[in-house]
Amino acid sequence: MKYIKLKIKDKTLIIYLNRVEKLNALNSTMIKELDEVLNQYLNNESVRCVIIAGAGDKSFVAGADIKEMEAFSPLEAADYSNKGLNLFNKIEAYTKPIIASINGYALGGGCELAMACHIRYVSPKSLLGLPEVTLGLIPGYGGTQRLRNLVGLGKASELIFSGKYIKSEEALKIGLINKICEDPMEESIKLANKISQNSPLAIKYAIQSMVSGLNNNYLDSFDIENNLFSNLFDASDSKEGISAFLNKRTPEFKGK
Ligand code: CAA
Repeated sequence: MKYIKLKIKDKTLIIYLNRVEKLNALNSTMIKELDEVLNQYLNNESVRCVIIAGAGDKSFVAGADIKEMEAFSPLEAADYSNKGLNLFNKIEAYTKPIIASINGYALGGGCELAMACHIRYVSPKSLLGLPEVTLGLIPGYGGTQRLRNLVGLGKASELIFSGKYIKSEEALKIGLINKICEDPMEESIKLANKISQNSPLAIKYAIQSMVSGLNNNYLDSFDIENNLFSNLFDASDSKEGISAFLNKRTPEFKGK
């Protein structure tokens, strides 16, 4: 892989986007490589959690690659945007938790990538924002929808229309990120280890249920939750979890 470095730590796959000299700006090759890695690990049972981070100490991702977009026709732009949208939708619906570990810039496509992840841990000095309008564009990787879902229409409008960058503290205050950490990678690994102790099957169903709520109407989503909840009673993980609780021991989940 040209722009991606992988590391496995216990049961966590750490994906570093590695194009440091361009502040990890996302080009088409990176989108393709990230997609391939996620496909490769989806059914790998020894991996329970994923962390996505930017290599270096300055940037998570400073956006989609502006140079690459310079001469796009509308047709090429549609294809470019679709590839990113498909990848980010895959991340949102990925059945292992994905944590964005953000150290530095998370701008444009980088902020959109972070928002597609399930959880965002961010260093105090990071800057986040959707500056696309300053380029005469709009967010093209799902940002208009995901920012609104996370922070509400008013705040999303303010950020998207102004294109301004906000500091971690403000991002936390408006609900764009989960937590500010001096060392987001260390804290992300701690959280991933905690998550990895729980039933992978239950987590997979929780993700499916939550994502279904984004795609279906409110009442239909309760039916989906009900269906997934009841299906778990056919699985050995729920028997193990309940038995472990009742017998005062630590459960050993198999994801089945
Ligand atoms: N695309 C391409 N190259 C980028 C880039 C991007 N998004 N962001 C940074 N770079 C490159 C710079 O061009 C520069 O390359 P050279 O050394 O070859 O000139 C290198 O990375 C370092 O960047 P700077 O010298 O600009 O670093 P800085 O510390 O002075 O500024 C910054 C940092 C404020 C993040 C600035 O780089 C910047 O404004 N970047 C662009 C941010 C942006 O507008 N992102 C949105 C992109 S559009 C998008 O994402 C569309 C979409 O939704 C699909």
